[in-house]
Amino acid sequence: MHGHSTYVPQTGLTKWLESRLPIISLVHSSFVAFPTPRNLNYLWTFGAILSFMLIAQILTGVVLVMHYTPHVTLAFSSVEHIMRDVNFGWLLRYLHANGASMFFIAVYIHIFRGLYYGSYKAPREVLWILGVVIFLLMMATAFMGYVLPWGQMSFWGATVITNLFSALPFVGDPIVTWLWGGFSVDNPTLNRFFSLHYLLPFMIAGVVVLHIWALHHVGQNNPTGVEIKDIRKDSVPFTPHATIKDMFGVIVFFIFFSWFVFYTPNYLGHADNYTQANPLVTPAHIVPEWYFLPFYAILRAIPSKLGGVIAMFGSIAVLAFLPWLDTSKVRSAVYRPLYRQLFWVFVLVAIGLGYLGAMPAEGGYVIASRILTVYYFAHFLVILPLLGLFEKTKPLPNSIAESVLAKPQGAAVAAAGSNV
Ligand code: HEM
Repeated sequence: MHGHSTYVPQTGLTKWLESRLPIISLVHSSFVAFPTPRNLNYLWTFGAILSFMLIAQILTGVVLVMHYTPHVTLAFSSVEHIMRDVNFGWLLRYLHANGASMFFIAVYIHIFRGLYYGSYKAPREVLWILGVVIFLLMMATAFMGYVLPWGQMSFWGATVITNLFSALPFVGDPIVTWLWGGFSVDNPTLNRFFSLHYLLPFMIAGVVVLHIWALHHVGQNNPTGVEIKDIRKDSVPFTPHATIKDMFGVIVFFIFFSWFVFYTPNYLGHADNYTQANPLVTPAHIVPEWYFLPFYAILRAIPSKLGGVIAMFGSIAVLAFLPWLDTSKVRSAVYRPLYRQLFWVFVLVAIGLGYLGAMPAEGGYVIASRILTVYYFAHFLVILPLLGLFEKTKPLPNSIAESVLAKPQGAAVAAAGSNV
């Protein structure tokens, strides 16, 4: 699906480089001439927004590290030092901390976009699975980053989550001791989390390269779910069309991000994390960051500890099998009336689980978590496999161009185009 590169080196230097490392023509075919479906909506700008967020997190993180100390006696005060003494340290920290939340908002929109338009279906299975790998790496990175300020929630969150591994039969306890590097969450734990928190974003960047490589090999999906047939009619070149639209999406998202950073920088955080970690005082409620809450609810919904851990990891692992669990021949929810409704039910279930993850694990909350957990798995393991066999789908357009031109504004654009 690489756009045929029309790049011709003009100068002596570019000709010399092209015959040795054809990097300019690679960029040209991938980001200039690349045929982009002409009907993409703003949900397709989230890939660019995510790329922007990854770079922003790495840049702010690399500068924060220059003033941070990964030691239990100094970590908390080094963060306060960043906030008070380092020039624009507060800005760097608020960008980085809120940036993590923004990254997750963007990735959830990106994933749900994929679910809605069936972007995980053949031939995009590997692209999707690479996405699931990125998601797991993002979760690991965010979890370890949260431990670094060494506040109460850092310490107790790390204690709860690392302790989950003790549920494994026989090897559980030795594994937890090995993860901690001692007999409790302590300095060795903080140090290794720091090391891994610095390493993983670069691994994410590597997997993103594979993700985009796979994307460029199979081509982008689009709201109709119908592939590009005629490059001339169904697609537009990536530059300027997608480049400008992506830049606009990134800027709007950055304004939203800035609003948090400048007006309510602690809204998404937890007050307990402004108290230094104290192994002798357990907070009343140990809650993870908002983006982990649905998975936390699934973990606590299962009465057995091991069962909860399996369900929690299973709820993410099941996504990797989605391309084969969804048996429908039609990709996009636009042409799948029943799936479209069930998609929104699933969105509500996910939000409901998020709410329950923030509530204490008692009484009605536990029962509600169990019901929603069963539904979460049923959506993937029962509903989607069966729905594809029975659902009566709407007729698909013959091509992307046909679907665009069928809309009144599409016809107007075509008419305007023909006058030029
Ligand atoms: C750091 C995180 C990520 C980055 C930087 C990233 C980047 C991108 C980019 C640039 C695109 C093309 C533009 C677009 O369709 O929005 C894309 C497409 C896609 N991504 Fe991601 N992605 C990330 C995470 C994920 C995750 C977690 C998943 C799924 C679990 C995923 C699944 C997909 C799929 C299926 C497509 C193709 C969509 C289509 O063509 O309809 N991505 N990604």
